[in-house]
Amino acid sequence: MEFKRLDDGVEIPVLGLGTWTMGGSHSADRSLDNLWVSVIRSAIELGFTHIDTAEMYGGGHCEEIVGEAVEPFRRRDLFITTKVWKDHLKHDDLKNALRGSLRRLGVEYVDLYLIHWPNPAIPLKETMTALEESAREGLTRFIGVSNFSAALMDEAQSYLKDERLIANQVEYSLKHQSPRGELLPYCIRNNVTLIAYTPLAKGDLARWGHNVLDEMAEKYGKTPSQVSLNWLISQDRVVAIPKASKLEHLKDNLGAIGWRLSREDHEKLTKAFKKSTTE
Ligand SMILES: NC(=O)c1ccc[n+]([C@@H]2O[C@H](COP(=O)([O-])OP(=O)(O)OC[C@H]3O[C@@H](n4cnc5c(N)ncnc54)[C@H](OP(=O)(O)O)[C@@H]3O)[C@@H](O)[C@H]2O)c1
Repeated sequence: MEFKRLDDGVEIPVLGLGTWTMGGSHSADRSLDNLWVSVIRSAIELGFTHIDTAEMYGGGHCEEIVGEAVEPFRRRDLFITTKVWKDHLKHDDLKNALRGSLRRLGVEYVDLYLIHWPNPAIPLKETMTALEESAREGLTRFIGVSNFSAALMDEAQSYLKDERLIANQVEYSLKHQSPRGELLPYCIRNNVTLIAYTPLAKGDLARWGHNVLDEMAEKYGKTPSQVSLNWLISQDRVVAIPKASKLEHLKDNLGAIGWRLSREDHEKLTKAFKKSTTE
């Protein structure tokens, strides 16, 4: 695995493991629990030590699966991210939500706790106070946001006294390039890590059949998925969390590291997909 600097003396793997739909979508589905536990364990053994989950995934059951999966590993070797749902952004609700996540995950702390989505109905200052307290109490090592614009991040940061927002998790891929406008430059200026979700456009960018992507895959002797992920992690401050539930996909995605697209080829890909990008 390769790593990027998250904060002073702390690194984050350039590729983590997404877990959306493991254990159900909006409610629990327990039918494939054994499969998910073994997928996550295989991923960790391969080097995907950053696991991304959320209290909303599978109505909390995804966190239980992650908890069971990580049990045999040393806690300090893992980087566990979870997220508080947007209905739980009042002070006490957030604190209870985090306690619930820790209980389901079976850990004493998470590495990164994110506000899953903004909620204009709840004062951001109240949420940030609760988030900061959670870090101070040692329940999370770092705090951040997800699906926040640069302007909203700035506002959120202004309510923090001692902590800083370390990351913003947003959709970012060749097919969804909008963070290149304002958000990524903001992250670079403020030492914020941009965690790219849906980095393979739900698998579409892992398939052959996109002209320039195919051309680059052939040129570098890589697969479309490896080129698509390399396009992301080649960028300053960007890491990605592809979800893969097949061992062959996990191994394929690992091939995105250890090499780099040339600057010219990176730009060619950016331009080729920009035409069809959803901004
Ligand atoms: N913060 C947010 O609001 C938010 C929103 C969406 C997602 N997320 C997070 O981001 C993670 C990733 O996003 P995502 O799950 O939406 O989409 P994604 O990672 O872009 O795509 C996942 C799909 O790609 C397939 N895939 C992965 N690697 C492949 C490969 N090498 N070859 C062929 N197919 C491959 C997977 O198939 P298999 O499963 O069959 O291997 C799966 O169907 C989520 O799981 C979640 O943790 C966060």
